[in-house]
Amino acid sequence: MKYDKTNRTFDCEPTLTDSQILTYCHDGFLQLKGVVPDEINKRTCDYLNGDIPINPIYIPDGMTHSDLERIRDTHEPSTLLLEDWYIEHVLLNPELAGALRSLLGKNVGLPVLISNHRVECPMEAQPWHHDADHVFGPETNFVEVFYFPQDTPLDMGPTELLPTSHIEPKERDITENGFASDGPAGSYVIHSQSILHRRGESTATGLRHMLKYSYWRTVAPTRDWIHEPNFDFQTASYGGHGVARYVAHMFYWLCGKADEFRLIGGQAWPWSSENQIAPSYGFGHSEGYLPNWRKNNPDDYATG
Ligand SMILES: [Fe+2]
Repeated sequence: MKYDKTNRTFDCEPTLTDSQILTYCHDGFLQLKGVVPDEINKRTCDYLNGDIPINPIYIPDGMTHSDLERIRDTHEPSTLLLEDWYIEHVLLNPELAGALRSLLGKNVGLPVLISNHRVECPMEAQPWHHDADHVFGPETNFVEVFYFPQDTPLDMGPTELLPTSHIEPKERDITENGFASDGPAGSYVIHSQSILHRRGESTATGLRHMLKYSYWRTVAPTRDWIHEPNFDFQTASYGGHGVARYVAHMFYWLCGKADEFRLIGGQAWPWSSENQIAPSYGFGHSEGYLPNWRKNNPDDYATG
């Protein structure tokens, strides 16, 4: 692990394989369960509950110690990013860092802001939503991370996500469930900020914290995660109708090969069926179409 304190970046060995990167492109998230030591999870909760004093490694320019004490008690306790124990064991957790390095390339930029989704349980489910300012597209210039510092079983209302909903706008009724990210203390969810999600219903009693923040790409994408010798771009499984084209485009973008990506439609690559007797046609075309991520600009961004 190389941690650059001055630039607030890190570098380490990537830990995800081609197939795991492709699964992330398809689902829009991945979960790491119980990877932070209990002592650190407890310390995080104590910090958020105001039971231990702040001890920043430095005071950012333009701020004072009392500014930091004020920030610690808000719903955006970003002062945690200045605690040496939090940096070492939560921000730079080895399992998390390896996955982030795989998705974001070398010299991953560390978060600058934390949101604490603090809930006094029991609480009804939140409506399904895409977060503010999400953008649909093949790019992965940042990923968002949820960190659960206490045990978060189903009855504590873990975040629910709808797989593949990071590729286009989705709506879902409040009565419908999704993938529940329940897990022991010290679990993470790495996800596309565009994914449809919500806080699940909780029926237990107690305080639930969930910290959310983004890690940032600082280098151009390239396929420098763990290569699988038998991974075949032509026969890999990218998903079904209406999905495969987006998943493949995202995967190509991450490989630094977005310029080589074209579609000819129908049952051509990247779509495929397990029952076909030969690889799909349409692989490697230099002319054709791109997926229409922008549609009618539902996310309110314009292409330049
Ligand atoms: Fe949200």
